[in-house]
Amino acid sequence: MSESNPIADLQALEKEALAAVKSAQDRESLEEVRVMYLGRSEGRLSAILRGLSQVPVERRPEVGKSANAVKERVSTALEARQSELVAPSAESELDLTMPGRSRWRGGLHPITQAVDEIWHIFRDLGFARARGPEADTVWYNFEALNTPLDHPAADEQDTLYLVDSVLLRSHTSPVQMRTMEANEPPIRIIAPGWVYRRDTYDATHTPAFMQIEGLVIDEGITFVDFKATLAEFARRYWGPDTQVRFRPSYFPFTEPSAEVDVKRIITRPDGTQYETEWLEIMGSGMVDPNVIANAGYDPERYTGWAFGMGPGRIAMLKHGVQDLRTFFENDIRFLEQFAR
Ligand code: DAH
Repeated sequence: MSESNPIADLQALEKEALAAVKSAQDRESLEEVRVMYLGRSEGRLSAILRGLSQVPVERRPEVGKSANAVKERVSTALEARQSELVAPSAESELDLTMPGRSRWRGGLHPITQAVDEIWHIFRDLGFARARGPEADTVWYNFEALNTPLDHPAADEQDTLYLVDSVLLRSHTSPVQMRTMEANEPPIRIIAPGWVYRRDTYDATHTPAFMQIEGLVIDEGITFVDFKATLAEFARRYWGPDTQVRFRPSYFPFTEPSAEVDVKRIITRPDGTQYETEWLEIMGSGMVDPNVIANAGYDPERYTGWAFGMGPGRIAMLKHGVQDLRTFFENDIRFLEQFAR
């Protein structure tokens, strides 16, 4: 310490100490800084305080006060730096240019989306939505639908029975009967829902899956109504160029019965077009007079048509999904691709 100006020496020391505090990058080097300046035996400020006796008596109070103030400020700076090193401040430690973490967005399941889109098209055509129980009786699931219990579909190999004559419905067709019983014609309904079968779990079968039932009953309904409605649905769902084909088939609850296929015209990004294969979308037909009579309606007066379609298959085709199981295994990386 210079004899002439101890205050100036103190100021220089403070400046140096504060700079050292600021540049300490971890807690160990900060502790070294503390020992170097404030350490009880070797510390440079402590040395100054100890050397006060060398200072002329009249200057001692002034120098002593100044030294204590420096000690105070350096201690405060040490503490502040210490807490910075424990909890890094936003500016010093965060890379503000780093992209943000995107917020998790929930979304509807792709099959739910297909069900909604299909239902909305029929709603716009004047249909109402109907529902029925998933656990139902053999009467509603089979017998009322003109399907005798010795029919292969009613076999325990195919159907999940709960107790005696109660089962998990194997199709949404029982909603036809329940709706007819609870209402008077005219009837125009769409009934989406879960159905259950003893199927092996593979790329195109799951033991629980979605179906969408459609039913129209009124006076004077013919197959022409069905063809026109279906063609309109297909054009709205797949596009105006979609072709529809009806193939003869057999179901116990319809006569005549038909399977419906659609063929799509796809436009590539370069403007060229190609046709898809025919794809089967539903079973259908004119409601069998026995079914109409089972509902308590006069089959001479009322006729109607019905269909059952599989939105799972429709969603697979729409998204180019090869394995139905991926829709049910709840791998969020797969499902979030469809979120919207
Ligand atoms: N219930 C039939 C099935 O699950 C599908 C079906 C065919 C429903 C013809 C109908 C129909 O309403 O008319 O395979």
